Amino acid sequence: MNITDYIHLENKYGANNYSPLDVVIKKGQGVFIWDINGKRYLDCLAGYSALNHGHCHPKIIRTIIKQLGRLTLTSRAFRNDQLGFFNKKVCQITGFKKVLPMNTGAEAVETAIKLARKWGYEKKGIEKNKAEIIVCENNFHGRTTTIVGFSSDSYSRDGFGPFTDSFIKVKFGEAKAVEENITGNTAAVLVEPIQGEGGIIIPEDGYLKRVRKICTENNVLLMLDEIQTGLGRTGKMFAYEHEHIKPDVLIIGKALSGGAYPISAVLADDKYMSVFTPGSHGSTYGGNPIAAAVGVSALEIIEEEKLVENSAYVGGYLLRKLKTINSPIIKNIRGRGLLIGIELHRRAGGARRYCEMLMDIGLLCKESHENVIRLTPPLIITKNEANTILDAFRKVFKN
Ligand SMILES: Cc1ncc(COP(=O)(O)O)c(C=O)c1O
Repeated sequence: MNITDYIHLENKYGANNYSPLDVVIKKGQGVFIWDINGKRYLDCLAGYSALNHGHCHPKIIRTIIKQLGRLTLTSRAFRNDQLGFFNKKVCQITGFKKVLPMNTGAEAVETAIKLARKWGYEKKGIEKNKAEIIVCENNFHGRTTTIVGFSSDSYSRDGFGPFTDSFIKVKFGEAKAVEENITGNTAAVLVEPIQGEGGIIIPEDGYLKRVRKICTENNVLLMLDEIQTGLGRTGKMFAYEHEHIKPDVLIIGKALSGGAYPISAVLADDKYMSVFTPGSHGSTYGGNPIAAAVGVSALEIIEEEKLVENSAYVGGYLLRKLKTINSPIIKNIRGRGLLIGIELHRRAGGARRYCEMLMDIGLLCKESHENVIRLTPPLIITKNEANTILDAFRKVFKN
């Protein structure tokens, strides 16, 4: 079969909800992936920041194979011998007292929303069904109907209503807007420390700190969605560390498995997590033994291989060097750690065609919104490999 055959096969039977680049990947190892013809690419997307550990990390693969041969699923009807270790490890790494494991990022966000509402009614005393959650314009928290209901992206939202109206949208990056919209019914503020899908939008220094203070003063939960920014992506274990704060509720996913398995989690201290009681929330696969075992390995690797430090080091280098590329079509280059966005001028005609040019010379990138190229390679990337990215960008953007 050739590339056209694969694309035809996928499209013939598959829903048309993505527009992938026309490359068919067969194999991945470390920062590299190979297409069906054996052409090698440097992966600059890393599964939308899920592959922080690189492709097929040997320790993760060993863990998953071992666990697959022993026990795959118990559901939470019974206990399994892996979950406790995962719970302990993720609590130790995050500094929270309790974790609730789920599978996808959107499920974890839904879990946090349920936590906030229940806490609002049971602990804060909000009147039944009146709880509000403040969210930000240009957010991305996943694809469920509740979540897309408070998206400001019409592609994500339009045609999927009716939606719940208890989400109050405020401008991202403006702490004052949060403060002005808090009412007695506000249970939580849900925010991404850096808007990833929204185009790598980094708020001004001090924003999260101010939001933290406002939440504390008003008895409102600060819930940070670190599904994309967490686990080393921004050069700290969690992006909130850049501001020396801590949220009340932390939502993580993606790289929690190193890209090998869907694992997500919500973390909070007991005074918040205790609103969940048996029967009030759950998931057949959440906390399954494969996820638990893989999660422990993935978290260990982040520490053992100093991925956070490497993200800060190589990310800083890459950002500095990218900024020296003098191209009339580049509008702005911004980033933190290995979460980097290259924004192009409108007249460049959209980021997609540049991703296609980069693909031709062996770099796989993806546009984020129309005019931003997202650069989020695995955190294991070396300075040498970063130079390969720089060479490719110089080639495409200097011509
Ligand atoms: C910040 C953020 N939240 C939530 C999600 C949704 O995660 P998932 O696709 O695993 O449901 C994403 C995915 O890109 C994300 O970046």
